[in-house]
Amino acid sequence: MLELADVDAFYGNSHALQSINLKVAPGEFLSVLGRNGVGKTTLMRSILGLMDRVTGQLSLDGADISALRTYQRAKAGIAYVPQGRGILPRFTVRENLVLGTFAAKQANGIEEWVIELFPVLKDFLNRYGGNLSGGQQQQLAIARALLAQPKVILLDEPTEGIQPNLVEEIENVIIRLNRDVGLTVVLVEQNVSFVRRAAHRFAMMEKGRVVAAGDIGELSDALVHRHMAV
Ligand SMILES: Nc1ncnc2c1ncn2[C@@H]1O[C@H](COP(=O)(O)OP(=O)(O)O)[C@@H](O)[C@H]1O
Ligand SMILES: [Mg+2]
Repeated sequence: MLELADVDAFYGNSHALQSINLKVAPGEFLSVLGRNGVGKTTLMRSILGLMDRVTGQLSLDGADISALRTYQRAKAGIAYVPQGRGILPRFTVRENLVLGTFAAKQANGIEEWVIELFPVLKDFLNRYGGNLSGGQQQQLAIARALLAQPKVILLDEPTEGIQPNLVEEIENVIIRLNRDVGLTVVLVEQNVSFVRRAAHRFAMMEKGRVVAAGDIGELSDALVHRHMAV
């Protein structure tokens, strides 16, 4: 279980997150929603320990992780697929994947089942990451995160800017990771219909706060219009 209690986060003096309380149970799929600039990425960065200053409690499986460094949080089982993907362009696909394995508790190399989720990666192992399309880079970023053998995977707008023919493929893999592999998923997403199809629970953000949360069945059109419509 990933738990945030009274979490606040800051960029310098700017108060980016306020009083965030969230619980994600093992095997659960939580989607974080909200307009641009409300703090969704900041929330992911806070869970990973990538912010200047975070107050409040963060725990994973009952253990306090607030004082851990980012690489220790990764070893503890939190994987992150950042918005914009974070592929190293001058590293090959294989080298990008090997980076993911470094965060694993037990080194298992590049596991076959991960490559099989995204067969295109197998053909491109020796290509530079920077030469892949955006959608292929997203697949690589997800595969790299999985090779860290996480308990929970944080995905920040994984289908943003992806060519339409790959969007559904990526969405289906994310659903499989939760339902078949049993991974706990925290997904930042703008596509409400995908969220309704995939998630168990949602948290709607506005101005650095969670303003509504609940079971996915409670994500009404009225809530979506109030907090997401442009
Ligand atoms: N590096 C930064 N330094 C200062 N402020 C930032 C930085 N990154 C984001 N912010 C601000 O924090 C707020 C939340 O941003 P972000 O978490 O990226 O929102 P979202 O992911 O929901 O679009 C915004 O007001 C944004 O301008
Ligand atoms: Mg963002």
